[in-house]
Amino acid sequence: MSFRETPDYVDIMALILGIESSCDETAAAVIDSDGASLATRVVAQIIASQDEAHRPYGGVVPEIAARAHVEVLSPLIGRVLAQAGLRLDQMDAIAATAGPGLIGGVMVGLVTGKALAMAAGKPLIGVNHLEGHALSPRLADPTLDYPYLLLLVSGGHCQILEVRGVGQYRRLATTIDDALGEAFDKTAKILGLGYPGGPAVERLAREGDAKAVPLPRPLLGSAEPHFSFAGLKSAVMRAKLAGVHRDADIAAAFQQAAIDCVIDRLRGAIVRTSGMTALVVAGGVAANQALRGALETSANEAGLRLVAPPLMLCTDNAAMIGWAGAERLALGLIDPLDMAARPRWPLDAAAEAVRGAGVKG
Ligand code: KG4
Ligand code: ZN
Repeated sequence: MSFRETPDYVDIMALILGIESSCDETAAAVIDSDGASLATRVVAQIIASQDEAHRPYGGVVPEIAARAHVEVLSPLIGRVLAQAGLRLDQMDAIAATAGPGLIGGVMVGLVTGKALAMAAGKPLIGVNHLEGHALSPRLADPTLDYPYLLLLVSGGHCQILEVRGVGQYRRLATTIDDALGEAFDKTAKILGLGYPGGPAVERLAREGDAKAVPLPRPLLGSAEPHFSFAGLKSAVMRAKLAGVHRDADIAAAFQQAAIDCVIDRLRGAIVRTSGMTALVVAGGVAANQALRGALETSANEAGLRLVAPPLMLCTDNAAMIGWAGAERLALGLIDPLDMAARPRWPLDAAAEAVRGAGVKG
């Protein structure tokens, strides 16, 4: 990506307007990079979910998403500034998600960010959505230092990364087929739980017995560092079609199998790193309490502290985009107004492609 060095931005307190529109949430936030805690750093945030619009289709429809972002974003930015009691010209920079994600939505947010930056004469920061997730734990926990080991689990991504600093990522694992959130969503669909599926599967799993349905744990114990959930998803489908299991048991068994796979892959990654300050989880699936419990045990075993941001920072939001913008601004990393939106944008550009190259990032 391109940027301009602007040393005069280094280490100054900054107010950032963050904009997020890469999937099915339209969000805007005002971030005060000088705040000492999450509460004072997020001056205001509004998240408008499109769940209702996509529910009849059982997944996100890109065209519907893009149209909804167009309708909602501008008034939402006006409201978030009003809520913060600040004007656009008081912002030090505008940070908008520039990818990866659904290109229509990304363009709506980025073009809006560019227009506001141009109108107010403020720097633009095009944020990688994944960097937003990756740095969000630092927004929540001011004591979290680089480098840390990050499990990034969302609807589109499933990766383990070494986060060494802003823009410095080493990918240790990714998925060769489905992302973890996608596996939750597909399981929800198979069980008729509707969209979005992750929270519904977690709720139902609480009433089920994970041992009642035998399900595979793809790649468990293998030297391969990556994730695979396609086989697990097919097994969930077969278990449902067999017609002999309770849905709650299938949900519980799926969730446990998926978590076992994650913990196994994570163990391998922990062995391949050293000097990590913490084990950190981010992305929508980080909202899952059962996963958090398993990660806590795993972190304890490895002698690492677990940092799991509050739920509102796990699923898509604009505070994390504003925060990533603040971290970039502090380093003078701003972007030109002709910056292009990127539907695909891996955090570790040097990472080798894996089987299943259809997966974003
Ligand atoms: O980060 P996110 O909001 O959007 C993407 O960038 O993908 O993640 C959304 C994903 C969805 O797949 C959703 O089902 C999953 O996170 N998710 C959960 C839970 N809450 C959200 N999965 C499992 N358990 C949850 N409690
Ligand atoms: Zn996300």
